[in-house]
Amino acid sequence: MKVAIIGGGPAGLYAAILLKKQRPSADITVYERNRADDTFGFGVVFSDATLDNFEKHDLPSYHRITQEFAYWDDIAVHFRGTVHRVGGNGFCGCSRQKLLLILQERARELGVGLHFEVDIEEESRFADADLILLADGVNSRFRDKYAEHFQPEVDLRANKFAWMGSTRPLDAFTFVFQETEWGPFIAHAYQYEAGHSTWIFETDPDTFERAGLTGLNETQSAARMAEIFGWFLDGHKLLTNRSMWRNFPMIRSKRWVKDNMVLLGDAKASAHFSIGSGTKLAMEDAIALAEAMAKAPSIEAALDIYEHGRREEVEKTQHAADVSLVWFEHVDRFWDFDPVQFAFGVMTRSKAITYDNLKLRAPDFVAEVEKSFAKQLQANGFDVSTDKPMVPLFQPFRLRAMEIANRAVMSPMCMYSAKEGVPTDFHLVHYGSRAIGGAGLIFTEMTCVSRDARITPGCAGLWNDEQETAWRRIVDFVHANSAAKICLQLGHAGRKGATKLMWDGIDRPLDEGGWDVVSASPLPYFPDSRVPRELDRAGMNAVRNSFVAAAERGERCGFDMLELHCAHGYLLASFISPLTNTRTDEYGGSLESRLRFPLEIFEALRAVWPKHKPMSVRISATDWADGGITGDDAVAIARAFAEAGVDLVDVSTGQTVRDAQPVYGRMFQTPFADQVRNEARVATMCVGNITTADQANTILAAGRADLVALGRPHLVDPFFTMKAAAWYGADEAFCPPQYLPGKEQIFRNSVRDRQDLEELRIKAKPKTRAELKAEATKPLAAE
Ligand SMILES: Cc1cc2nc3c(=O)[nH]c(=O)nc-3n(C[C@H](O)[C@H](O)[C@H](O)COP(=O)(O)OP(=O)(O)OC[C@H]3O[C@@H](n4cnc5c(N)ncnc54)[C@H](O)[C@@H]3O)c2cc1C
Ligand SMILES: Cc1cc2nc3c(=O)[nH]c(=O)nc-3n(C[C@H](O)[C@H](O)[C@H](O)COP(=O)(O)O)c2cc1C
Repeated sequence: MKVAIIGGGPAGLYAAILLKKQRPSADITVYERNRADDTFGFGVVFSDATLDNFEKHDLPSYHRITQEFAYWDDIAVHFRGTVHRVGGNGFCGCSRQKLLLILQERARELGVGLHFEVDIEEESRFADADLILLADGVNSRFRDKYAEHFQPEVDLRANKFAWMGSTRPLDAFTFVFQETEWGPFIAHAYQYEAGHSTWIFETDPDTFERAGLTGLNETQSAARMAEIFGWFLDGHKLLTNRSMWRNFPMIRSKRWVKDNMVLLGDAKASAHFSIGSGTKLAMEDAIALAEAMAKAPSIEAALDIYEHGRREEVEKTQHAADVSLVWFEHVDRFWDFDPVQFAFGVMTRSKAITYDNLKLRAPDFVAEVEKSFAKQLQANGFDVSTDKPMVPLFQPFRLRAMEIANRAVMSPMCMYSAKEGVPTDFHLVHYGSRAIGGAGLIFTEMTCVSRDARITPGCAGLWNDEQETAWRRIVDFVHANSAAKICLQLGHAGRKGATKLMWDGIDRPLDEGGWDVVSASPLPYFPDSRVPRELDRAGMNAVRNSFVAAAERGERCGFDMLELHCAHGYLLASFISPLTNTRTDEYGGSLESRLRFPLEIFEALRAVWPKHKPMSVRISATDWADGGITGDDAVAIARAFAEAGVDLVDVSTGQTVRDAQPVYGRMFQTPFADQVRNEARVATMCVGNITTADQANTILAAGRADLVALGRPHLVDPFFTMKAAAWYGADEAFCPPQYLPGKEQIFRNSVRDRQDLEELRIKAKPKTRAELKAEATKPLAAE
């Protein structure tokens, strides 16, 4: 077998090693355009988990790599004169040049052919090769040559970054956030060998410009960075090596394989430097390819296994990198945060590290986070303990005169079980049990303002006396038997009306018994959906009047709060999104005009809803579709509602158009709640695949939202909040007297269960390499 490898970076060299080990008789050659000891960059970083992987696949190179490594456990965050350190991270750094020399040496030992200073222009010179690895880096010539086939997407990010080095020793992965007269600068730094550290500097394009960095050469910009970070460099110099400022290209390729050619490493997909995974991904690609080659009957089958088997892992890492890079790009959102909350945000930015996880590793740090959270509440007049503060989920929250005991919320969820809009006994049990279960705030399902405003024949409504009586019974029950507050969500289905019950075909038009539907524009949801009538001014007045009448009924029912549903493609959302609003009158066109009718309704409601009671608005913060609403629009929408007097923005996403491309995942909508909260400066509630109290605490402690709503978790567990209260020892949580013996038992058992689990986790956690190295080099204690 003959294998030609274009590119002698970590991907190409490691693939050569693994393939040669597998097939000693194969002719495997690496072609590299640089000299053998020529390299850009300074250090590379690997986690303990990545090193475990290398240990499994090639022991000799693993041993040599780890001998050369600098180990550290801590992450240190420097911000506004403070430093917060968190241990237990298990990272290692090594010089990129040494890594390449080790891999070259190992490849040579195994009999791989290595050709340096050979720039491959055409792959046709490898016509006799069975396999060609395109490991030619981020600017891959061959990916671009066959761009039509590989279909790469290059997302050039806005921030500027430059890779430099220093002799400054560091004992932790260090983030320095530096305020300057021009704006914020960030240094990501770590030591990779004795006397050498990597320094990546990052800033936004405006700060870059204001700081006069445009047009400076490497030496001049290193001098400017040394001025900015001089206090931390402590007299050490900054070193350069092709340290030009660049914009990071996020690369994704739809295809990785063409005939017998395959993309590896940065050539196929890149991951932002802030999660330190570029070299790891490159070498793990090599592992995946070698594993596929070992088990497949042919090269073609192996390439297929590699392409399809590896993609998910790469995309997961890229997603984590994306989330992380967005955090750094928007660091100004958090610039006025309390430093410990800021540091908590840095630690938890990419979702891999959570509240409970940090509590185990860095209890003092988390205790400080809890204290700071409680102190902010004290400053706002809450009588909460700062000596023994509760976790954020069990801290109170206030909107106007409404105070809720904790931040866990039951999200609005249609039950499709009303009879002619009248809530039934099912609803009483449904809402009643969730309220008893401990949620601080319960939202009703979308309650429709008129008969033809319903989504389905089973939707609840509030347009007649019978419905009002039924809702009052529910509200009274909640108030009499729980500490929960209850919010009425009012909505109008718009073009998604006259559709089937969820379990009969969600959003599908009714076969019979339907009614006329209205929308901002006459665009059907599905091609075979009912075509909505474009709402005229008289229709708008009627809709507005029915919203107002329903709100007045809601007040008579005793609801504590009112939410206007402007999300998910229903009537008011259809005005806001340009994908569903093609009007040419004053209610279409610019965002300001598209918001006019929803704001008019909001203002009409605010006028009749009692002043002391809060109001929220639910929005779709993105349509997940080209040309639709984006996060930046959501900020503008939130600002407009805030000016009209909204107290909370309930941040959901999507469901506007059928061909949307949502990116699901844990807590997938939280970044939008974060953006709205910290850019528009309005309280937010986040929702969407948040399934644990740990995740909720992570979100709240990092200041990404003020309330956390859970939908589906509440469907199967009315006592979600009570259980979480027991877990965190929030013993002031309300419990109806009838259930007190159960509360006492779960609180007693949870303390023990929690201790047991923590001990188990600590025991099960292998020592990091840094810990092992520290132990090995510790002088023996005198007997
Ligand atoms: C300026 C810069 C500095 C970096 N510094 C660091 C760092 O300090 N630490 C870190 O972890 N990561 C660093 N990275 C990221 C890191 O290099 C990559 O994520 C990782 O090296 C990917 O490995 P790779 O083998 O896919 O690509 P690369 O390491 O880029 O290797 C590709 C190789 O292919 C060669 N090549 C390209 N085209 C041809 C051709 N036509 N013929 C022959 N040879 C060719 C290139 O010379 C190169 O050696 C840096 C990236 C950049 C852009
Ligand atoms: C069965 C069901 C019904 C829903 N009905 C509504 C609704 O009436 N109003 C609304 O704003 N959102 C509604 N949603 C969306 C939820 O409020 C929530 O945003 C969504 O389920 C994501 O949160 P989760 O991952 O915690 O379930 C509904 C969701 C489900 C699963």
